[in-house]
Amino acid sequence: MSKSPGGVLLHRLGVDRGSTVPIYRQLDVALRKLILEGALRPAQKLPSSRELALELGVSRITVKSVYEQLVAEGYVEARTGAGTFVSRGLAEDASPNLRPPRRQAKPPGDEISDHAKIISSSKASVRHGKIEPFRPGVPALDLFPLRIWNRYLSDALTSSERQNLSYGHVSGSAALRAAISRHLADARSMEADPSQIVITSGGQQAFAMIAFVLLNQGDTVWYENPGHIAGRDLMRIMGARVAPVPIDCEGLDLDHAIKRHPKPAVIFTTPSHQQPLGTTMSLVRRLALLNYAQENNAWIIEDDYDSEFRYRGRPLPALSALDTERRVLYVGTFSKSMFASMRLGYIVVPPGLVDTFAKARNLLGQSSSTVVENAMACFMDDGRFVEHIRKMRRAYRDRRDSLYECLKQDCADHFDLRPTDAGMHLLAWLKGGVDDQAAHRALLEAGIESLPLSVYAAEPIGQQALVLGFSGVSEKRIPTLVNRMSEALDKLEHA
Ligand SMILES: Cc1ncc(COP(=O)(O)O)c(C=O)c1O
Repeated sequence: MSKSPGGVLLHRLGVDRGSTVPIYRQLDVALRKLILEGALRPAQKLPSSRELALELGVSRITVKSVYEQLVAEGYVEARTGAGTFVSRGLAEDASPNLRPPRRQAKPPGDEISDHAKIISSSKASVRHGKIEPFRPGVPALDLFPLRIWNRYLSDALTSSERQNLSYGHVSGSAALRAAISRHLADARSMEADPSQIVITSGGQQAFAMIAFVLLNQGDTVWYENPGHIAGRDLMRIMGARVAPVPIDCEGLDLDHAIKRHPKPAVIFTTPSHQQPLGTTMSLVRRLALLNYAQENNAWIIEDDYDSEFRYRGRPLPALSALDTERRVLYVGTFSKSMFASMRLGYIVVPPGLVDTFAKARNLLGQSSSTVVENAMACFMDDGRFVEHIRKMRRAYRDRRDSLYECLKQDCADHFDLRPTDAGMHLLAWLKGGVDDQAAHRALLEAGIESLPLSVYAAEPIGQQALVLGFSGVSEKRIPTLVNRMSEALDKLEHA
């Protein structure tokens, strides 16, 4: 074992000249490690910078600057005329709390918070990496008018007053709230004053904010089953008891919920286009739900995530448009109508809650960007948003038709299909008792990304289906992909 003239063990202080890590950094990291592990003990003398530089074949300036850095951070002490020593303050008996934590025999697990356990068990898809075709909820990124959007973004960034570089209004950009208010009046028959609109960084942040403001620990939340996964898990994490409510042909089954579950503080629903089954809530059910909420002091979250995309007739007005007693919190997102990475959505809150929600937005971190908010306001004011939706509606209708026809032709042995008049996905019901998770895995191996219906369910629903997003796949590619899908499912069934 080599020892320096100063008596310090140097065998762990090698320098790798082939490494991309600078020599200064290698030496710095190695010395810290020796000190923290106790190989260099408190008060122990380090070799002089000259000795160490010679020993390692590096410049003395390099060693000196590493020592200076370690002195500045309290790892070592320089004593004039005597040399450099490991700090005495690092001795365990001098200050036990300064010792680095010893490695635990077992990894942390049992002692983590209840929140952390629920978060870890969430089935909401963790989206990293490549988007494979037919992933549900992905808009036509290939058709997005990037160059035009870039102009709006650039104008918002370079606006002469530079106001957009600041935090902005506590509820979000006034211009965007006004534009959304006009859009909701035109497209959703809603009367929402701009002051009632709170900008969020998407639907999911809107749900988090609503739960943060309106839920007490242990409150019941009626939640559609099957239903939007990330929203459901979030409600649980926020301390709610989530009560799954089945969907019948008119939407959320209110009678079932009244009979089986305690009174809710919040009811979560997707009335325009039930996620994922696609049912549109009937007018009778909408009125019954609103009456129930009014009589029982319950809040309703109306998640209106993809109502822009209806391919027959005009979109039905929002549930919120019928809400005279202000029990509905309407949530909108631009993730589907524009693109998800812009992270922009909003809540229309009842007038009495405006101030509380603005403060909640502040406390939770104003996570939408003022630049993007104002770019979007101008995009809407110039009619670009409506124009884009119109184009996407036509493109999605064609993509839906193409997927439906190809599936009917190539996958008739595997799927039962029902036509869909809205949204960005269709349901392919699996025949012959094939498990939807197994089918999902088989398709994933073939480079196709569906979602199994069972992951949307908190309670089993007794049917097996795959959710296939058509909006993100160009018509040209659909026949080949469906062919591949058929081959993968053939293989699965004959395995
Ligand atoms: C039904 C539904 N609601 C809300 C959202 C929220 O999306 P975001 O947070 O991107 O606005 C999604 C996203 O996939 C969704 O599928």
